Amino acid sequence: MNNFSYFNPVNIIFGKGEIAKLSSLIDKKQRIMLTYGGGSIHKNGVYNQVVVALEGYDIIEFGGIEPNPEYATLMKAVEICREKSVDMILAVGGGSVADGSKFIATATNYKGETPWDFMIGKAAVPEALPLGVVITLPATGSEMNCGGVISRRELKEKYAFFNPTGFPKFSILDPTVIESLPPRQVANGLVDTYIHTMEQYLTEDNNSLLVDRWAESILQTIIEIAPKLMANQAEYDTYANFMLSATMALNGLLAMGTTQDWATHMIGHELTALHGLDHGATLAIVEIGIMKVMREKKREKLLKYARRVWNITTGSDDEIIDRAIAKTEELYRSLGMKTKLSEHNIGDETIAEIVGRFTKRNTNVGERGFITPTMVGEALTLVK
Ligand code: NZQ
Ligand code: ZN
Repeated sequence: MNNFSYFNPVNIIFGKGEIAKLSSLIDKKQRIMLTYGGGSIHKNGVYNQVVVALEGYDIIEFGGIEPNPEYATLMKAVEICREKSVDMILAVGGGSVADGSKFIATATNYKGETPWDFMIGKAAVPEALPLGVVITLPATGSEMNCGGVISRRELKEKYAFFNPTGFPKFSILDPTVIESLPPRQVANGLVDTYIHTMEQYLTEDNNSLLVDRWAESILQTIIEIAPKLMANQAEYDTYANFMLSATMALNGLLAMGTTQDWATHMIGHELTALHGLDHGATLAIVEIGIMKVMREKKREKLLKYARRVWNITTGSDDEIIDRAIAKTEELYRSLGMKTKLSEHNIGDETIAEIVGRFTKRNTNVGERGFITPTMVGEALTLVK
């Protein structure tokens, strides 16, 4: 097991009706910026629950944060926070709103020339403004981590940043918010949760017995609940298990003592930056290519994954691995996900562009930096 440190200060409030507790979590003297996305919270009643819970509070609203939150939009919120001396941000929405709000909370206190500098690692992040989250889409785990992913469309770039002072102070997880999600977003959330788990599980075997079993339990939970969610036959407990799985998949628990990968995410972010694909949609394609290209390096773990998650126990080792990869692809396709670049009309030009970007940045990706830019090209070619 690798050495690790673990810190997670987020106060999680979980369950039906818990949005009503907002007033017990926020001091009435605080000036709040209430951030949200394109309006789903107005349609599904979440906005109403928030404003009823916070009646009499000093609130400035900032709506319109887009999926894959955009730097230029967020900078408008930063201006307002500075001008109006906002004390805290309350994010109500999916991962994009949560991430965008983490950026606002950090950039407001940034004293340098342009906050993009901390996005690209040229400057350190300052201490963030306090943040609270009401999450409406189980997927990213953003409600219980200190990372955010921000897009800058004019540059066709998408980068992650981390601010150890930017964890939400609290996050409210009411699973009933899932009822209003369109099937495409349910599928995105299931895939994102699954692949966050895989990024921390499907690496070299660190003999991290307990954490491996936590990861396997999340993978098996997703496999079990996915058909009910996609057939719209879910009940409260199914929603609750989905929401808890998403949060637990990316709050640091699965990283305890394990080697992490994240190549699928790094490459997926490029596909979103270049073609605007949903985050989950990029992962369902790239992960299959990564498993194939890393087949030898990940051999032990692929066999464990096959045996323990999919119950594949007969055949030669190579056959077992083939079947585990095929089962994974089948799972994504059962959610309506495409698993080939060509199904999104993406071809060789984009593969070359992505390889060129990693080459220019002089970065390898994946566990222990095993994946060179050339291998990124190979992985993408395998899922063309
Ligand atoms: O904008 P609104 O109108 O709210 O609609 C959203 C949006 O159109 C809608 N939605 C959200 N909750 C809903 C709902 N519609 C009906 N009912 C509800 N309850 O869903 C659409 C997608 O929302 P978005 O927030 O973009 O999705 P998601 O939560 O999947 O977030 C994706 C973003 O998170 C980043 C991704 O890169 C992407 O930018 N990630 C963040 C991570 C993190 N912070 O740790 C890790 C992830 O790997 C990921 O990279
Ligand atoms: Zn993700």
